[in-house]
Amino acid sequence: MCGIVGYIGAKQAAPLLLAALEKLEYRGYDSAGLAILSADGLSVCKAKGRLSVLFERTQGGASMPGTAGVGHTRWATHGEPSDVNSHPHLSHSGRVAVVHNGIVENYAQLREFLTEHGYVFHSDTDTEIVAQLVDYYYKGDPVAAVRAAEAQLMGSYALGIAFAAHPNMLIAVRKDSPLILGLGEGENFIASDIPALLKHTREIVRLGERELAVLTREGISVYDRFGDPVEREPEYIAWDVSAAEKGGYAHFMLKEIMEQPEAIRNTLSPRVRDGKIELGLTRITEEVIRGIDKIYIVACGSASYVGMTSQYMLSKMLHVPVTVELASEFRYSDPVVDANTLVIVISQSGETLDTLFALREAKRRGGRILSIVNVVGSAIANESEDVVYTWAGPEIAVATTKAYSTQLAVMYLIALHFAKVRGYLADAAQEEAVAALTALPDQVAAMLGKREQMQYLASLFFNLRDIFFIGRNLDYALCLEGSLKLKEISYIHSEAYAAGELKHGTISLIEPGTLVIALCTYAPLREKMVSNIREVKARGAVVIAFTDEADQTVPAVADHVITLPKCAQLVLPSMPLIPLQLFAYYVALLKGCDIDKPRNLAKSVTVE
Ligand code: F6R
Repeated sequence: MCGIVGYIGAKQAAPLLLAALEKLEYRGYDSAGLAILSADGLSVCKAKGRLSVLFERTQGGASMPGTAGVGHTRWATHGEPSDVNSHPHLSHSGRVAVVHNGIVENYAQLREFLTEHGYVFHSDTDTEIVAQLVDYYYKGDPVAAVRAAEAQLMGSYALGIAFAAHPNMLIAVRKDSPLILGLGEGENFIASDIPALLKHTREIVRLGERELAVLTREGISVYDRFGDPVEREPEYIAWDVSAAEKGGYAHFMLKEIMEQPEAIRNTLSPRVRDGKIELGLTRITEEVIRGIDKIYIVACGSASYVGMTSQYMLSKMLHVPVTVELASEFRYSDPVVDANTLVIVISQSGETLDTLFALREAKRRGGRILSIVNVVGSAIANESEDVVYTWAGPEIAVATTKAYSTQLAVMYLIALHFAKVRGYLADAAQEEAVAALTALPDQVAAMLGKREQMQYLASLFFNLRDIFFIGRNLDYALCLEGSLKLKEISYIHSEAYAAGELKHGTISLIEPGTLVIALCTYAPLREKMVSNIREVKARGAVVIAFTDEADQTVPAVADHVITLPKCAQLVLPSMPLIPLQLFAYYVALLKGCDIDKPRNLAKSVTVE
């Protein structure tokens, strides 16, 4: 997720674009850049780091004359944060400048094609190929060039494009990534999101899928994918700036919960090609994968629960022992690690100190390190042999939601890729698994439809002092995350128990009115869960249970039931998570807690 802005009008563009980018820094902040059009052509300035670095480098924009241009604030996907990887990207000839939000999936093939045609590349990004491709097709007509280039792109894109030879126009085009146009008096705007525009206009047009807009000072013309003009009434935006930054949601956490289908799609779809999983690993080669005889998953907090959830799947599919270790414990546990040990390190921030130190310890002992990280170029990513990035975009709320979901999605990919390489995944099973992955974003979107039900249940139980979560196997792992989510943002004491453990002590805490959330989604152990529900009900507990829509047994014993649609076993853990996050959110909301910044917590934990 990155932030795009564009301006064409009578004012100096650069200071205005910098101010607009500031409102989009929540979409990415590892580097930023501007491309400004003037009679002399295109001038570009880019800088790694927060926007303030670019601000200083351009003296607040003053050093870049011109009244039209595009700007970008980046959240790295392809290529680490650096000046050269920052946007805008110029074509080699300097004729075309492009800012991009999204992921070009076939960039490697396109890069090869362009290289064969004499194009020279300067960055590691997927975006540079867009600038070069537009340049390749440019024969004097900017719209034709953009359309021809777009026809070659696979993946998601929102693009702002400037042509040196056309200082009085900008082009915007999008597919699967958002882009809006702002309408002003003698000036017009492009932006990824509304907050960037509110200072200048409240009249906006949302660019539709594969629509292209030509912006001049005087107006905006929008065309559909066939080149036919599109007439669209502008929308009036009444939101204040702070609501706009959260996409109209009350909190970043809710916004990030709602973004999960898109985040999962961005993470999965570039890695699934022609029915096969492509992780792009370079050092954890197929030979290394075949030789692995033990896997450690090392992480902290929620990331460690992704590990717990995946542990069952990995050991079953790969036929190797899998151990999940808290990073803060692993380092001091004298772990048995050698060259046949794979250590999977999971971290959203890529900076968690406990996790980084655990990684170093595993490396020192000769283990092979594969990490799952959200922040490109972070310490954990840099020190790993291979990284599979989650493409969740920046996560602002302290409590993780979309990072967790995308980490889990990457785990599915790893399990499938490794199982295939080790000879445990037949072609038919792979086909089924790929179909399950393809359906997942929409199934997660359907789970978001449980929002009202979870809000209602939260209203019944937000006043409780203790809440218990119980489950078995996969469901137990999910309970750990559900319970952490609840306690960290609502401050309600909560415990997650393997349901079979209750009778060994914890059941003494169950008294009339105690809320027990029972996860019964794992069908092979559902009958046992029904018995556990009976046990707590007999002590007066109230039970909210999760089960699939075909099941009759759990609804017969529980007080409230959350049903899950039928889905493949592989991706099942992604489903209950969504209502659990929503439940925690609404409980915290009703309790008046500071949801995005819970007390005593920080987003990135860089102390031991
Ligand atoms: C809980 C949460 C934390 C993080 C943990 C690891 O909602 O966000 O438990 O999962 O601090 O952080 P990363 O993933 O950045 O290493």
